[in-house]
Amino acid sequence: QTENKSRQQLWENQQLRNAVQSTKGEVGVDDIHVEGGQDYEFVFDDEAIIEFTGDSNEDVLPELESEYDQKLINELDREQARLQTIQETRQSLPVYRFRDSLLSAIKENQVMIIVGETGSGKTTQLPQYLVEDGYTKNGKFQIACTQPRRVAATSVATRVADEMNVVLGKEVGYSIRFDDKTTPEKTILKYMTDGMLLREFMADPELKKYACIIIDEAHERTLATDVLLGLLKDILPHRKDLKLLISSATMNAAKFADFFYDAPIFNVPGRRFPVDIHYTLQPEANYLNAAITTIFQIHTTQALPGDILVFLTGQEEIEAAQQSLEEIAHVLGSKIKPMIIAPIYANLPQEQQSKIFDKTPKDCRKVVLATNIAETSLTIDGIKYVIDPGFVKENSFVAATGMSQLLTVPCSRASVDQRAGRAGRVGPGKCFRIFTKWSYFNELDPLPKPEILRTNLSQVVLLLLSLGVTDLIDFPLLDKPSIPALSKALENLYVLGALNSKGAITRLGRMMCEFPCEPDFGKVMHTAATHGSCKGVLEEVITIIAMLHETASIFAQGKADREGNKSSVVGKVSSDHILYLETFNSWKDMNYSRSWCFDHKVQYKTLVRVRNIRDQLWKCCDKLGLVALNEQAVEQLNGDDNAEPRIVKSFISGFPSNIAKLGASGYHTMGAQQGGVNVSVHPTSIVFQSLRKDMVKPTRFILYQRLVLTSKEFMRDCLPIPREEWLHEMVPHYFKAKS
Ligand code: CDP
Ligand code: MG
Repeated sequence: QTENKSRQQLWENQQLRNAVQSTKGEVGVDDIHVEGGQDYEFVFDDEAIIEFTGDSNEDVLPELESEYDQKLINELDREQARLQTIQETRQSLPVYRFRDSLLSAIKENQVMIIVGETGSGKTTQLPQYLVEDGYTKNGKFQIACTQPRRVAATSVATRVADEMNVVLGKEVGYSIRFDDKTTPEKTILKYMTDGMLLREFMADPELKKYACIIIDEAHERTLATDVLLGLLKDILPHRKDLKLLISSATMNAAKFADFFYDAPIFNVPGRRFPVDIHYTLQPEANYLNAAITTIFQIHTTQALPGDILVFLTGQEEIEAAQQSLEEIAHVLGSKIKPMIIAPIYANLPQEQQSKIFDKTPKDCRKVVLATNIAETSLTIDGIKYVIDPGFVKENSFVAATGMSQLLTVPCSRASVDQRAGRAGRVGPGKCFRIFTKWSYFNELDPLPKPEILRTNLSQVVLLLLSLGVTDLIDFPLLDKPSIPALSKALENLYVLGALNSKGAITRLGRMMCEFPCEPDFGKVMHTAATHGSCKGVLEEVITIIAMLHETASIFAQGKADREGNKSSVVGKVSSDHILYLETFNSWKDMNYSRSWCFDHKVQYKTLVRVRNIRDQLWKCCDKLGLVALNEQAVEQLNGDDNAEPRIVKSFISGFPSNIAKLGASGYHTMGAQQGGVNVSVHPTSIVFQSLRKDMVKPTRFILYQRLVLTSKEFMRDCLPIPREEWLHEMVPHYFKAKS
């Protein structure tokens, strides 16, 4: 990020230099107005003509020349040196030796599988080779490279823009949900999430603007990647000129080749140093503590340099670990060498992510606390020690109960082997596994379970139906989802009104596809704008939905702060949804001020992202005519109706299967035929805090956005439903039988 900024600076300086030089030749000094001395201001417009303000001053120009030119020349020299190093680095990557044979193999084959050790240069180099080989036909076509993770797409794009010496967002860009950094007329190389390419099928079913598509990290087997491979398999016969490259870690490669009628596998041998694997003798009850102890053992006994990479399961765990590490390091003070702690997880604000790539200063050790994002998607140089508790957080959907939840589960053997490999990139390394050798051989599954077998398929089924794929059973997929999982998705879409009773997609269903979010949210927005008894709350609902997309990082970091800044509203605000709405609106009323965020311990950058998501959802609703309908409704209401019941009802219409009912032993879910599962309000919820202080009575029904299983099953982002009849009103065919 910072590097990119300084490039921008340099580019501007270069423009200044050009401008200064050209003014010497063509423009008289009188044409340049400089405000006294060195404190001048300059503005660049598109043509990079400088415009100075203030009185003219003949003496300034020579000064400009001597000081600024010299500084610029130095900077340009440094830039030259930097570009030189980049070229050298590029050529030192294992994939470089295979550049020519790769390109000729690509020429011969429409589909190819590329397998290589992580860090060998597949993601950053392959797309550049294709550009260099002329596949974009002077900017007529694009090259897409998909990534399962947003962080990978943005950070790799930044890196490649740098290597190609262009400004990010022009020739090289990225496209992730709610954040499109590309220029349609200019961008030739686009890193994007697999989900974004999937959406592009809707607008352009043959992906005509692409000359090559690289499905990167295919071994991750995300839902979007699997569906993309199916759709691509379908269009390849019609798009003979399209090149498809599937890049993968070694696991699964044969399966991909098989799927594409025995496509060739190109192997890029990596360089990898030996990694010593250590196991614990007994299973560790608290792997987080064990990991922290191990970090200090390594730090105090092993020589520098040698950074540590720790694999944890998510933001909360990473924050907790960071806090403990900082506290312990603080107590030990100067008895230990300094440690730099660098967290990385999907929701970490982008500007903080680059810290993991910063070179570790001398006499210092970097400790990277990462989710499995660092398993294959990101390569961090300088890692010598890997600490691996062997867990991963996974989405898990059980069709029989209709429940979707995030679970912490043991990784597969393939994953822990990948993780260990991260220690052997710069030299011999060590991997400390916080589980037993017996467990490795007897308890871990050989491969991770593909997402398509463990997730709610509603969104994908809707997308396929909208693309005209009606035969879901025969649609080509690497692994076919179970019939109950497909039926559940169809049932869910029917309940939402996206499908009619014959299983055909409805107008509402098509509308839901247009939204850049799950169909359930699309339904909520549609209801808020159009439904008889709730219309007129589209704006409120969009704000809440935008906030729900960023909940992980809205409130200040650290648990105490997060709870602290809710304390003043406990008992006054009925739900997390309304709290989000009020938080955003207060910020908006303060003119989106940064200091308001600071005072209220709210993350400014996150709110800026929320605002951006909100704008995009609003535009989308406008395009679909919902904004106009909503405005009519608002006018009719004359501003005197309470919005809250209408907001609650709108959410009921989109999330009928996310509702829990209060029984003798607390809340339990209602999706299942038999009984349901006990669930509790999560302690971070405003509802939990209000209930604990006895400031409100629990409602008989409560809507939740997510279930998380930690010590028990928790509901996050809770919306109490004050009146039971709203359920019957909003989703009659769903709640008649069940409640
Ligand atoms: O895709 P693959 O794992 O084969 O490798 P890559 O991501 O293309 O990385 C090649 C090299 O680029 C590695 O040595 C990384 O350390 C470096 N890289 C970087 O410095 N910064 C990034 N944002 C991405 C890659
Ligand atoms: Mg890669």
